[in-house]
Amino acid sequence: MAAGETPTIGVAMLGYSFMGKAHSRAFRALRELDPPLLPELVSLSGRNRDAAAVVARRYGWGDVVTDWHEQVADKRVQLFDNGGPNAVHAEPTIGAARAGKHVFCEKPLGMDAEESHTMWKAAEEAGVVHQCGFNYRFVPAVRLARQMVESGAIGKVVHFRARYLQSWGWDAPVDDWHFTKARAGSGALGDLGAHIIDLSRYLVGELATVSAEVKTYVDGHEVDDAFVAAAEWEDGTIGTLEASRLARGRVNSNTFEINGSEGSIAFDVERLNELQVSDGPGFRRVMVTEPEHPFMQYWWPPGHIIGWGDTFIHEFHHLLTAIAGGGTVAPHAATFEDGYRVAEVCDAILRSAASGKREPVTYR
Ligand SMILES: NC(=O)c1ccc[n+]([C@@H]2O[C@H](COP(=O)([O-])OP(=O)(O)OC[C@H]3O[C@@H](n4cnc5c(N)ncnc54)[C@H](O)[C@@H]3O)[C@@H](O)[C@H]2O)c1
Repeated sequence: MAAGETPTIGVAMLGYSFMGKAHSRAFRALRELDPPLLPELVSLSGRNRDAAAVVARRYGWGDVVTDWHEQVADKRVQLFDNGGPNAVHAEPTIGAARAGKHVFCEKPLGMDAEESHTMWKAAEEAGVVHQCGFNYRFVPAVRLARQMVESGAIGKVVHFRARYLQSWGWDAPVDDWHFTKARAGSGALGDLGAHIIDLSRYLVGELATVSAEVKTYVDGHEVDDAFVAAAEWEDGTIGTLEASRLARGRVNSNTFEINGSEGSIAFDVERLNELQVSDGPGFRRVMVTEPEHPFMQYWWPPGHIIGWGDTFIHEFHHLLTAIAGGGTVAPHAATFEDGYRVAEVCDAILRSAASGKREPVTYR
């Protein structure tokens, strides 16, 4: 390596579909953000070699393999990125960590809290950097919301309410892995609910109790289509969490609102570059595109908006910075411990729906 050159890091990725594309694009675009390590796209794995090869060519992956064990054994690989279905998260990710590779795994971390806990412990014991793919933490407006809560700008927080609504669950084939217990673990709860539970932990703190309803409506679905939960956080904040794949008209509507003694903040992913801020009656719109706003120093002149796909660039930049610095991705990215803690909240929601009672969130 010549003096002044950025060192590289060998990356292997599992999965080449939705997240596979989002991650591939992010790894390529990363160099525009001057990361401390430059990703070298060593290999892509998928069960269908021809389909994976198309994506590999498009994004510049070197090898295409049909067995992730090859990636885990590959000495050129220092970072293993798991963008596969939920049932394929634990074994390859744990294998990669034990082989000494840093690990990134999409959310939900495992199929349930038990499996997520095993993944967290394995990564810790291996001494590698671990990050779970809660990319909404990397929306500049969400990071600004965290800064405002932390600085006391909205006073003492009393309410958090969030809902993540989609509608594709009515029309998708029932044999899609997302609706199968053995491949997905849970439905709207682990898929969409996990994101808003993570955001609530990032913005408010740990949850204490939940009182929930979880329902499956569509014939053939083995997992939940929707849930609603009334929740209390450890600091006494109360609020609601809700997710559905059956909310006709809602395509990818991810919203939250935080109310405090001095003001409120509201966010809607469909208005990704904006934060709604209140310090009196009503809300005003803040464009989160100024150079001093989180991540915006990397992008365009003020007012020139960024997109959902860019959150993945931010999260990988953060991961590579932690790896280069020999540290953890906490507190701004989700570690595997965060992934595990979210899974405990999901399990408590399922317990509450089954028991018909308010359930405490407990950690093992
Ligand atoms: N962070 C986010 O916003 C976000 C959004 C969507 C999905 N996700 C998560 O990402 C993960 C993947 O979801 P998706 O929507 O990309 O799914 P997908 O069905 O589009 O893609 C899954 C990929 O995994 C591959 N795969 C399956 N089994 C494999 C195996 N044994 N070895 C190698 N590859 C294998 C499939 O061929 C496919 O390419 C899920 O855990 C999901 O919850 C996260």
